[in-house]
Amino acid sequence: MFITFEGLDFCGKSTQVKLLQTFLKESGFNVSLIREPGGVKISEKIRDIILDRKNSEMFFETELLLFSASRAQLVREEIIPKLKNGYIVISDRFHDSSIAYQGFGRGLNPTFVKQLQKFAIGEAIPDLTFFLDIPIEEVLNRKSKVNKDDLDRIEISKTDFYENVRLGYKKIAEKEERFITIDGLMTKEIIHNEIKKIVKKYLKDKK
Ligand code: TYD
Repeated sequence: MFITFEGLDFCGKSTQVKLLQTFLKESGFNVSLIREPGGVKISEKIRDIILDRKNSEMFFETELLLFSASRAQLVREEIIPKLKNGYIVISDRFHDSSIAYQGFGRGLNPTFVKQLQKFAIGEAIPDLTFFLDIPIEEVLNRKSKVNKDDLDRIEISKTDFYENVRLGYKKIAEKEERFITIDGLMTKEIIHNEIKKIVKKYLKDKK
């Protein structure tokens, strides 16, 4: 089973990813947790290039190709072998991030961005994707509480960029059955319980 988490920066994904990992491990599953961009050596190197604030001259096209290259490597080196070995793989962000951020946020042709993602991910299509949805005001509110020097090249983007990314996620949600929208303003316990319920049902139905 392959589960991905999506959402705007500061939506609380990383907390939920860890809670789900612990729950599944305690239930006896082998779990592999992956972070995007990154996860394996080559992809981590690409991650450093993408997120480095010094790379301010990077074009949106370059950014899209780098995210996709990083993902193509991660899929073949890590995700597919783990799935074949019976692991539950959880990824903190995956191809929907490129569709939402580079397609809708940066305004690159969404049809092409989707095609490129198909090429990059091949057969590694998520079974379930949790989209933790928070309003832009909440992104700004949470962002104002972190040290500005800790923000990466993408996180320093403007408000209208985030509006478009959120819209992109909502468009994906309308089309994809695997996409589950969760209100990211709820407490972390309530969110975790909701996610647990959905994953348990999926695993039971699959048997
Ligand atoms: P990440 O370090 O995962 O940040 P977060 O903890 O907020 O999820 O991702 C870094 C940034 O990269 C984040 O602003 C989202 C962005 N991103 C894209 O623009 N496209 C992508 O395909 C991915 C995976 C991430």
